[in-house]
Amino acid sequence: GQARRRHWLGPRNMPFNITPIDGKPAAQIKGLDLSQPLDPAVYRALVQTLSKYPVLVFHGQDLDAAAFHGFTRGFGSLQEHVLHKYRHTEFPGLSWLTNVASDGSVDEFGVRRATTWHSDGSYTAIPPTLGILHAYETPHTGGGTLFIDMGAAFDRLAPALQTRLRSLTGLHRHGAGPGGDMYDNSLSDEQKENHRDVFHPAVTQHPDTGRHILYVNETHTHKFAGMNKTDSIALVNDLLAHAVQPDAIYRHQWTPGDMLIWDERSTIHRGEGDYTPTARRIMLRAIIDQISIHE
Ligand code: OGA
Ligand code: MN
Repeated sequence: GQARRRHWLGPRNMPFNITPIDGKPAAQIKGLDLSQPLDPAVYRALVQTLSKYPVLVFHGQDLDAAAFHGFTRGFGSLQEHVLHKYRHTEFPGLSWLTNVASDGSVDEFGVRRATTWHSDGSYTAIPPTLGILHAYETPHTGGGTLFIDMGAAFDRLAPALQTRLRSLTGLHRHGAGPGGDMYDNSLSDEQKENHRDVFHPAVTQHPDTGRHILYVNETHTHKFAGMNKTDSIALVNDLLAHAVQPDAIYRHQWTPGDMLIWDERSTIHRGEGDYTPTARRIMLRAIIDQISIHE
């Protein structure tokens, strides 16, 4: 279908303050208290801002699960986490990203969980649009989250490779990519049955901007249609190596009260790991299925 293009209005026309983070695909947003009900115009402006800065950073927010649920629902419907054990009992659309078990013990696997590059839910037929994290307890050093803008990554590829990629289709399955074993790949057998390959073009177009995006990640992309396994894995690894230029990474060092909103369609991310395994790291997450902002 015909993509609907929104026009970037510029920072002065936004109902909040936008401070770009120098040279990174991220901006800090000031002047909003996300625990209070927000006007639909504010939600629309945030979504619009994401088409220029695909990672939005807020500091000093204080939302309990109910308030976080209310805030995130304003963007649209929530996608329930594939792993039931992570779901919030009262709000199944929210999930815990935590290394602290219910008995208070710290799960040392938390340091490695989700530390390979991925886009959440790329293994679903209609991948989600936004990821949102709100931090409650964070390690003092390390334990960041890293982001890459895959529109910019596509632009950095050689034209001949861009052309070749535009005719390729990627096969995605939960944790099946070359980096998948570093992911928390603990689906039940029944869930594995339900997880079949889904097909996504290797190059997608952002629905709001029309921009080309390299839609490949090392966690879930394991093959290209018509290409053998070895060549496919080599290409995935090669593309990731090109995409993940150290200078292009936005690295978020977490502080309690931080909120991050990112565009799942145009970025990949990973946990940094690299923190004291016994340090507590507790966040709530919401994954927005499809954006639908109601008046
Ligand atoms: C995830 C994830 C990032 C992090 O669990 O899907 O991306 O910093 N986590 O923990
Ligand atoms: Mn993730």
